[in-house]
Amino acid sequence: MTFVDKWQQQEFPMSIADFDFLRNLAYSQTGIVLPERKKQMVYSRLSRRVRTLRLSTFSQYCHYLENNTQELPEFINALTTNLTAFFREKHHFVHLDKQICPQWLAGKQKRIRIWSAACSTGEEAYSIAMTLYGRIDLNLFDVKILATDLNTQVLETAKKGIYSAEVLPTIPANFSAKYIKTLPNTEQFSIKQRIKDLVHFKQLNLLQTWPMSGPFDVIFCRNVFIYFDSDTKQRIIKKFRALLNDGGYLIIGHAETINDFAADFEFVGHTIYRARKRKVPFSPLFQQQEAE
Ligand SMILES: C[S@@+](CC[C@H](N)C(=O)[O-])C[C@H]1O[C@@H](n2cnc3c(N)ncnc32)[C@H](O)[C@@H]1O
Repeated sequence: MTFVDKWQQQEFPMSIADFDFLRNLAYSQTGIVLPERKKQMVYSRLSRRVRTLRLSTFSQYCHYLENNTQELPEFINALTTNLTAFFREKHHFVHLDKQICPQWLAGKQKRIRIWSAACSTGEEAYSIAMTLYGRIDLNLFDVKILATDLNTQVLETAKKGIYSAEVLPTIPANFSAKYIKTLPNTEQFSIKQRIKDLVHFKQLNLLQTWPMSGPFDVIFCRNVFIYFDSDTKQRIIKKFRALLNDGGYLIIGHAETINDFAADFEFVGHTIYRARKRKVPFSPLFQQQEAE
């Protein structure tokens, strides 16, 4: 059987032209690169949409996408990979606790802004909030965590803050004792309101205009650059730098690097970078120009 035949004989036939249409759309809308080897993944994730819409081929689905703009978010939600966990890559939270918090506590600045860019179902943002709560006096410091993602479905889960009891052991016991409550007669737990209050979830596509003016003190952008090509990644890192305070931190995923940005960031530890001092002080106008 030839390669083309295999895809034409699936439950929902998918031609080379269909796959190219879908991956070009994914790239232009989200920056996500879908090479040939991801075809099976694309097929299985989008088959659900084809079935739900009672279509019978991917050509019909491509046509439907072209003519129904309301399908675009569904397409994006189906395609994104949302794997995440509480305290994933633990050393980032240790760094936040042991290195970054003491600097804030010793400094004059009382406004702390953190951004979890590509937060998925919220575990990353809540891990940040648990690390800070009790460590930083919230009567003295104005602390806000912005958590954004492209996928509207994961944001719904994130806002609810309810998770399966199976993942409870991934939260350090001293935090789970204080910041979660088990939900009786369910196999679930919820994040306590005081932790939820620190986090503000919003939909944001990293490829589009960002409404925030910053500045941020820490940006977590972990395990999303792996889906982007070098151009997209470079554009986004440039915009991150523009939004960060001098000395602010950019924290990325374990398989990612920002080696091309040595002039903007110094390496401080495994996948943790610190924004070098600007030549011109931060201003929203400057930040806008820098990002362009
Ligand atoms: C693998 S998850 C990473 C979650 C979390 N940062 C972590 O490391 O555990 C990648 C997330 O990036 C989001 N994403 C992909 N493309 C995006 C884009 N263009 N703008 C914003 N978020 C995007 C996906 O929806 C997904 O939730």
